Amino acid sequence: MGKINAVITGIGGWVPTYILDNEEMATLVETSDEWIMERIGVKTRHVLKPQEGVGTSFMMKKAVKQLLDKTGANPESIDAVLVATTTPDYHFPSTASLIIGEFGMKNAFGFDMEAACAGFLYAMETGANYIRSGRFKKVIVCGGDQMTSITNYEDRNTCPIFADGAACVMLEATEEEYGLMDSYLRVDGKGYDLLHKAAGGSALPSSHETVDQRLHYVYQEGRSVFKHAVTNMADSVEQIINRNNLTKDDIAWIIPHQANVRIESAVARRIGVEEDHVMINVDHMANTSAGTLPLCLWEYEQQLKKGDKLIFTAFGAGFSWGASYMIWGYDGSKYADNPAEFYKEGQISREEWYTKRGIQF
Ligand code: UT7
Repeated sequence: MGKINAVITGIGGWVPTYILDNEEMATLVETSDEWIMERIGVKTRHVLKPQEGVGTSFMMKKAVKQLLDKTGANPESIDAVLVATTTPDYHFPSTASLIIGEFGMKNAFGFDMEAACAGFLYAMETGANYIRSGRFKKVIVCGGDQMTSITNYEDRNTCPIFADGAACVMLEATEEEYGLMDSYLRVDGKGYDLLHKAAGGSALPSSHETVDQRLHYVYQEGRSVFKHAVTNMADSVEQIINRNNLTKDDIAWIIPHQANVRIESAVARRIGVEEDHVMINVDHMANTSAGTLPLCLWEYEQQLKKGDKLIFTAFGAGFSWGASYMIWGYDGSKYADNPAEFYKEGQISREEWYTKRGIQF
């Protein structure tokens, strides 16, 4: 038997229908559409209705259902479900276990991986290694977050950036030269002061005091994080290009983490790739953390061609970052679906959303 590669054979995705636009954002904090468009490039963002018991798994189950429908995979044929998220439904049990239970994947194991915005990159490499071992044939890798559950709508530095959404891919074995070829993954452990959520873990368990101090929300020093993000994403893409003997002209698509359109542009400029070879959906999806990379794939699937050379790159808390090189394994047009069709469910009224978030309406 030849070398086994792990190739993506389908994508599922889902984002909530409720759209929070910049005009509405400007009623929550002192900001404006002009500022947000100029500094971030986000126009609208999807937010999940925060009803009792609904969290990240709600979105992921919809994405996985779509993936199973599209690929025709029998749930019992799934060997593993790996979930990249920073906003799991619970500390335990894992989000992966909720998905496995939902679909009766009785031959599967699964677990959650937390590497913030770099999570999907890490989970994809982990899933690929299970496939490469030869013992596992079908692995679902999910990435997604309900970032609005940890976003402080009193902090204008962070709240315009984040949103909710989830997507997933099916990884399968092939002996052909397609799939995930290489990954360059790094963590430096230096990012806590600049990007964290302080409370709710074992270091600072939840208490009245931590809630009063709003320590259960994302804290970010944006300008510093921005610089680290651009440098590390561009450097890791360069590493991947060089060690795989690629040239810039070989690359069909760069798929960067969607945090800020200025980051995407700066990374493209530093690598020397034209922006029409960069997947960008931050303008209407915002930053869904571990969801950004698979949601890009989901939206651009129809444009992907068998043999396309893709480079993923992400950066997040930790700091953690990296890049992966993939040779795409199918023509996206083989699935004639329209992602917008799946936006339809999950309606919520404006009043309900505000009330659940503790915002006076
Ligand atoms: O996904 C994980 C990794 N995260 C990222 O990659 C995010 C990286 N950082 C960023 O995307 C940007 O740094 C931000 C979008 C967070 C902030 O943009 P910035 O251009 O770096 O702004 P800044 O923080 O340097 O603030 C500039 C000014 C400040 O006012 P002064 O002090 O110059 O008077 C802020 O108070 O803009 C002000 N400001 C705002 N003004 C209107 C900050 N947020 C807002 C706002 N509306 N929402």
